[in-house]
Amino acid sequence: MRYLLVFLLWFSFPLFGQIEGKIQVPYIEFPMKEGKGEYSTKGKCNMCHSFGYIINQGKQSKVFWRKKIMKMIETFSAPITDEDIEEVVNYLYENYGEG
Ligand code: HEC
Repeated sequence: MRYLLVFLLWFSFPLFGQIEGKIQVPYIEFPMKEGKGEYSTKGKCNMCHSFGYIINQGKQSKVFWRKKIMKMIETFSAPITDEDIEEVVNYLYENYGEG
């Protein structure tokens, strides 16, 4: 029992650690290109992560963008309707496509 207490105390010390100074988390903006479907893409895709997650993939094909959107819907239950899929695929391909 005593060992258990010592053990728990030892591991609880970091919980009371103090940090000197301010912590600043950098804010990085990822401006979206203007175009048809910009607002639905913003609304549908930026609710869980920033636009940076999307454009970091580089310029990609229509098939690639469609697969990513399907992954978001199937794996992460993103609330995106069939009509939105088309609009978002077209927006991403027109503005961030390999063509
Ligand atoms: C319900 C939340 C949610 C929504 C809405 C969402 N995503 Fe994601 N997305 C995620 C998560 C969680 C990850 C991180 C997956 C990982 O790290 O493996 C991610 C990662 C990504 C990636 C990185 C590559 C990859 O395959 O993981 C891309 C590209 C992407 N999302 C595109 C989109 C697009 C485009 C939309 C809009 C149609 C969208 N996401 C909407 C949850 C979401």
